[in-house]
Amino acid sequence: MKLTHIFAVLLIYLAQGAIGTTDPNDFRILTDFRNGLENPDLLKWPGSGDDPCGPPAWPHVFCSNGRVTQIQVQGVGLKGPLPHNFNQLDKLQNLGLQRNHFNGDLPSFSGLSNLQYAYLDYNDFDTIPSDFFNGLRNVRVLALDDNPFNKTYGWSIPSDLAESTQLVNFSCSNCNIVGEIPDFFGGFRSLNMLRLSSNKLSGEIPSSFRGSTLHVLLLNDQEGGGLSGSIDIIATMLELTQVWLHGNQFTGSIPGNIGSLTSLKELNLNRNRLVGLIPKGLSDLNLESLNLDNNMFMGPVPQFKSAKVSYDSNSFCESNPGGQCAPQVSALLDFLHDLNYPEKLISRWTGNDPCEGPWWGISCNSKNEVSIINLKNLGLEGTLSPSLADLPSLLEIHLEGNYLHGVVPTDLTLLTSLRLLNLSGNNFDPPVPVFKNGVTVVVSGNPKLDPSSPPYVGPPVRPSPNEPPSNGADSSARKGSGSNSHTNVYNEPKSRVVAIILSAVAVSAFLAVVLIVVYCLKKRKQTQKKPRGGIVITPPKELPNSHNEVKIEIIDALSSFEAQNNSYNTNPTTNNNTRVIEVENLVFSIDVIRKATNDFRKENEIGRGGFGVVYKGELENGTKIAVKRTEAGPVCNKASNEFRTEISVLSEVRHRHLVSLLGYSVGGNEMLLVYEYMSQGALSRHLFHWRRLNLEPLDWEKRVCIALDVARGVEYLHNLGHQTFIHRDLKSANILLDDDFRAKVSDFGLVKLALDSERSVATRLAGTFGYLSPEYAVTGKITTKVDVFSFGVVLLELLTGLAALDERRSEEKRYLAEWFWGIKSNRGALIDSVDPALDAKEDVHESIYVVAELAGHCTARDPSNRPDMGHAVNVLTRLVEKWKPYEETERFCDDDVIGDTSLGLPQLLKGWQEEGDTRDFSGASKPPGMPDSFRSADAR
Ligand SMILES: *[C@@H]1O[C@H](CO)[C@@H](O)[C@H](O)[C@H]1NC(C)=O
Ligand SMILES: *[C@@H]1O[C@H](CO)[C@@H](O)[C@H](O)[C@H]1NC(C)=O
Ligand SMILES: *[C@@H]1O[C@H](CO)[C@@H](O)[C@H](O)[C@H]1NC(C)=O
Repeated sequence: MKLTHIFAVLLIYLAQGAIGTTDPNDFRILTDFRNGLENPDLLKWPGSGDDPCGPPAWPHVFCSNGRVTQIQVQGVGLKGPLPHNFNQLDKLQNLGLQRNHFNGDLPSFSGLSNLQYAYLDYNDFDTIPSDFFNGLRNVRVLALDDNPFNKTYGWSIPSDLAESTQLVNFSCSNCNIVGEIPDFFGGFRSLNMLRLSSNKLSGEIPSSFRGSTLHVLLLNDQEGGGLSGSIDIIATMLELTQVWLHGNQFTGSIPGNIGSLTSLKELNLNRNRLVGLIPKGLSDLNLESLNLDNNMFMGPVPQFKSAKVSYDSNSFCESNPGGQCAPQVSALLDFLHDLNYPEKLISRWTGNDPCEGPWWGISCNSKNEVSIINLKNLGLEGTLSPSLADLPSLLEIHLEGNYLHGVVPTDLTLLTSLRLLNLSGNNFDPPVPVFKNGVTVVVSGNPKLDPSSPPYVGPPVRPSPNEPPSNGADSSARKGSGSNSHTNVYNEPKSRVVAIILSAVAVSAFLAVVLIVVYCLKKRKQTQKKPRGGIVITPPKELPNSHNEVKIEIIDALSSFEAQNNSYNTNPTTNNNTRVIEVENLVFSIDVIRKATNDFRKENEIGRGGFGVVYKGELENGTKIAVKRTEAGPVCNKASNEFRTEISVLSEVRHRHLVSLLGYSVGGNEMLLVYEYMSQGALSRHLFHWRRLNLEPLDWEKRVCIALDVARGVEYLHNLGHQTFIHRDLKSANILLDDDFRAKVSDFGLVKLALDSERSVATRLAGTFGYLSPEYAVTGKITTKVDVFSFGVVLLELLTGLAALDERRSEEKRYLAEWFWGIKSNRGALIDSVDPALDAKEDVHESIYVVAELAGHCTARDPSNRPDMGHAVNVLTRLVEKWKPYEETERFCDDDVIGDTSLGLPQLLKGWQEEGDTRDFSGASKPPGMPDSFRSADAR
């Protein structure tokens, strides 16, 4: 090549760069990009004659030599799809599309080999193509979080990504990934952060992660079961600083060498099924935060060195850090260790005295020394620990019919009082040590010790952790030799597993909320972002920065029921099975709310819920309101989705037994929901705290009436037109009472919209411990029967005056529902258990039996055995009618005295609009022109 030629090429090259002739194809794609948007004006791009690469270059666009290398539009508020040929911008290096409303199909990025940074997070892309990652050879950062990719079936990370070996950060939390974590992540040498929180991942952490140099690993909160297996591999990733594994199904113990993670700052292991003792390596780590809640850890609570530690809801022998377990407990825990901490035992072997409380299979002598261990036919796997030699008072050890192997420890011959060691039907190895005379050692049925025994059959294959535990006794069937005559023998595997998982859920709901709020607060600092349009609700366009906008007419209209048809603008349309509701006219001015609540003064606080603080207030026109306030701004998807769900649900749901939403307000950094005020507060106050609060205890009639109100409210939710709403968090704290002690159900923050086609939906676990139905706790699958169960628990509370869960109660009575399963068929025990505050006389016994029977029916373990809410309404209605003639207060429990507001708000409004009706609507009767089919099921 001649020098002049090279020079000429160079000139053209420079000229392009300097004068900025944009590559025509890049130009075309930018134009397509602009034309595809609903709000292209926000780009402030000049007319099409101008050159994108400039000079000056268009806003948000960066070029090199006439080729587009960067587009940076984060947080601009753009809405619309990307052009399908987007990957022809093949000189693209850095793409910042995060925090917009891009939607539709995400185009393939296949072949964008220069791309290094791609931020697509916080958008609304509906699908991701399977060749998206193809050929992204140089990509370093891929951020895809918070996009509803392939929502219905989810998507799994394609293997193409394995070629992106330069990857430093990959994050895709909350983006519907299913399947297992791909192996190749473990092989990326430069990978620094892997964030896959809140997806639907299953399986184990791949073994390829051994020795990985990851710093940040976030795998928490997988829906639909979650990740499983051991967490041992974590201890091999020596550079880890932040590890979130909470909200999964990890099993096994914390690895003893976890102390090698000297860079670790944050470790969340809460809400798993981890067992065993806390290793010293962990307690000696100097972490900023450590969360061990809701597992099944045992033994002593060590003296942690970490700044912030939480270890609630475990099975520690002693709650004081640094305390010791009693010697008998230590010996038994070592014994459990060698049996791999079977879940069925560890939930029952709690406390620091095996002779006190329900230590399954343990009996003691009069001196409170362990004398009998009876653990036959439990499917125990592992070896027999020599630690039993530390229980010198032992007389009998029954371990027949398990899957134990290894040798029988010689130490056991030191047990001086021992008379029987039954090891029949296991797989022990020879030799059997020589015991002194008078000790019966049974080894029949151990193939290696007893040639006459049938060949050994190993333990059954365990169900995958994503499936609910099987119903039968999982092991005792094997040898058919077990007689479960001993009273202390564990024989109800299912309820036990449920109890364990339930306890794993206790603090977690609360924690999740705290995490979300913390997360939101953090997020908010990063960017002040406008509220996003969601698929559930289109928020008012003019809302964002206008804190002081006064739109109070609607409120006055609602609170005084002066219908003003032109101020309502609801527009229910159906779109992809999702109801889109315009709720802009429910907007309140923040100043009005501030004034009503005395600027959120402490004295006005009436409660705290998962969502925030509730204040009481009074509007200028005298209407009493309750305001639910959260500090977290709508920047955070999770909280704002919950917020929108609540608005959409509440504005759609209107019923005399459901607390009404009057309006809402969204400021830059807070969200407020305005409800009708319920003067008597929560039912829980009247059931459990009446003494302290100086209230009258509720009499039986009031209780039945409240139960009926609640049943009607929930029934309405379940059968709202064509849709089913599930409350998910029904409990006495969410049942509010008005002046007349009529009940309304509140707190729909957790409601999940169930589509007709999908009667059961897998959801992230939400709800309150004690009210959670077993199948929901185990599988996360939600149906209306979840609410029926919770309703049954509320009935039990009404009956007994006992809270659904009280840690201070004895073990058997701790979970009201579980305890009730045991006594429900015994009428005497039933009457004994009735709330003494009721002072129940003979004449109400019959009605108590009816309610108890209904409660038993509703809390049936198998959801298919629970009735629907309609049945509960019928049963309770009959009950009320029965005693009605004897009631002097005739209006008592009669629904007709309250106006029928059981129509959905949009329907009400539609009705008014169609009628052009501006008359005073007192809320007392069916609006004119409403077809009967709009009436709720409750109106019969
Ligand atoms: C997501 O869904 C789209 C459209 O249904 C499909 O073509 C695509 O392959 C899916 N993506 C993945 C990664 O499976
Ligand atoms: C990757 O993520 C980590 C942790 O969030 C962050 O500190 C780091 O700056 C990111 N690296 C790049 C290249 O963006
Ligand atoms: C030992 O267990 C086996 C199997 O349950 C039983 O048949 C046998 O009677 C037991 N022996 C003694 C001495 O208890």
